[in-house]
Amino acid sequence: MLSRADSGSVEPRLRESVIAPEVDDRGDFRVHVFSSAEELLSMRQDEWVGKPKPYPAMYSSVFGGIILDPAMMVIPIDDHMVHRGHGVFDTAVIFDGYLYELDVHLARFLRSAAKAKITSPFPQPTLRSILIQLTAASNCRKGALRYWLSAGPGDFLLSPAGCPKSAFYAVVIDHNLSQCKEGVKVITSTIPMKSPLFATMKNVNYLPNVLSQMEAEEKGASSSIWVDEEGYIAEGPNVNVAFVTREKELILPFFDKILSGCTALRLLELAPKLVEQGRLKDVRTGNLTVDEAKGAAEMMFVGSTLPILPIISWDEEPIGDGHVGELTMALSDLLWEDMVSGPETQRLLVPYS
Ligand SMILES: Cc1ncc(COP(=O)(O)O)c(C=O)c1O
Repeated sequence: MLSRADSGSVEPRLRESVIAPEVDDRGDFRVHVFSSAEELLSMRQDEWVGKPKPYPAMYSSVFGGIILDPAMMVIPIDDHMVHRGHGVFDTAVIFDGYLYELDVHLARFLRSAAKAKITSPFPQPTLRSILIQLTAASNCRKGALRYWLSAGPGDFLLSPAGCPKSAFYAVVIDHNLSQCKEGVKVITSTIPMKSPLFATMKNVNYLPNVLSQMEAEEKGASSSIWVDEEGYIAEGPNVNVAFVTREKELILPFFDKILSGCTALRLLELAPKLVEQGRLKDVRTGNLTVDEAKGAAEMMFVGSTLPILPIISWDEEPIGDGHVGELTMALSDLLWEDMVSGPETQRLLVPYS
């Protein structure tokens, strides 16, 4: 599976309730009724005792602060994001105590929110400050910061008119990040793509993406590739895709029908260094048919938590010579160096106490 993109690799650790359903005389399950909030909270806290905590901190505008107790990292069931999918999200990587490309992700987050007609409860500088304070409070040096804007809690109707205040949630996920050096297999997805309106905003409706990822896993692949209705390469379910042609051109699909990935955009800024060195001929966005793409010399996924993942096989056919491409790794090095020691515009030092 494409385990690292979108930080999907944190394993579910505590899912089962410690209270087993009781069976009454007639053989029916009797569901436990908690006598108080304290009883429930103490049971949930007990579940975490002696266990690693993959989520060291959460922020909730509904609570109005940062929560360090995983038992309390919850959101309201009447939140319009929960029952109607009326929410947007984004992610930024925490790398060696720096937040990588936070401002670019935040700008896309607010563009997504505008498309979803969600007004943030806070202006951008406040959102940014909350995210920085949350990361500092988490003490996490390597991981992912995920955040959501929602129409907020209120009622269970379709219209958000009864949701008086939008909500902002964020969580820090402890997660080790290392450069991907092994190549993976992909398949062409048979799950229909989202229409451009929904694919270009990072909203929480990821069911097509989830089904596309599951389809890949069922077929023994790491992830999948979407092809649009015109037959052009689109993207992966939570990553962009890039190709190095046999003529040594780096080509990424146009972003008009897919998510404009922050990492893909940064790659387009950094890759001309390889043109200067004479290793690449050109760097551009463009339409690629499946045949053109399958005939590429090298292929890779691009996404913030990778940042580059080499692809060596597609629909059981090798890409290029079937090995991790040299230029793929050169591009990976460029992004990796940018994360490790790039300019201050890209990396924000977290003020841990
Ligand atoms: C559908 C989709 N495409 C592409 C990307 C890659 O974007 P980024 O580089 O900003 O992580 C993501 C992840 O956010 C995604 O969910």
